[in-house]
Amino acid sequence: MRSQRDRDRMTRRGALGVITVGVGATIGAVVAVPVAGYVASSVAAEERFQPAALGPVERFTGESGFHPTAAPFVEDPAQPVTSSQLAYVHHTGGSSTDWLAEDAMFVVFSNRCTHVGCPAQATAVGFSCPCHGSQFDDRGARIAGPAVRPLDRFQWEIRNGVLWVTERWSVQIEGDRVAYYPVKAPGQPLSGQVPAADALYPAVTYDQPSAPSS
Ligand code: FES
Repeated sequence: MRSQRDRDRMTRRGALGVITVGVGATIGAVVAVPVAGYVASSVAAEERFQPAALGPVERFTGESGFHPTAAPFVEDPAQPVTSSQLAYVHHTGGSSTDWLAEDAMFVVFSNRCTHVGCPAQATAVGFSCPCHGSQFDDRGARIAGPAVRPLDRFQWEIRNGVLWVTERWSVQIEGDRVAYYPVKAPGQPLSGQVPAADALYPAVTYDQPSAPSS
């Protein structure tokens, strides 16, 4: 038979267990709410991409080999400082003005490194990020460093002789195919590692060859 002291101990232990579970749940909520908010806010922020003009098409068609043209632009004229970005326009030599065609004229890369967002710079063979050493090839595929996925790409179109970017996509490059996903924030993998993000970012939308042919 248990003594009064044993019963008191068990009661205290039970109370401590309840408190521990309560504290754990509170900590879980404190951690989970900002994470969910971060994921949701990044989706909302990226959904607001506004089409922007990069310049006359002729400015980008003189390239031969791999020397993509840097094209700074302001996504939101009302927020010129915080919405300034840089695209790299690669002229493939193709002739199609359909950005998803096999012979698409351009591939337009985002220079936002997919590690934590530093500005990657074009090199003779691809792109390089000065912050932590991520390297990308001439398709934007990661070949070294901590970046979690290829460089994002911009959907583009030509309006009255001017090249516009109209949407940003995250991509996955497998073999000679590129799959396009609703854009993710720097540091976010495309799938499989953040279940909540998988639910918010749906599956592949469409794909095209990784290197449009001329
Ligand atoms: S931000 Fe580019 S490697 Fe870290």
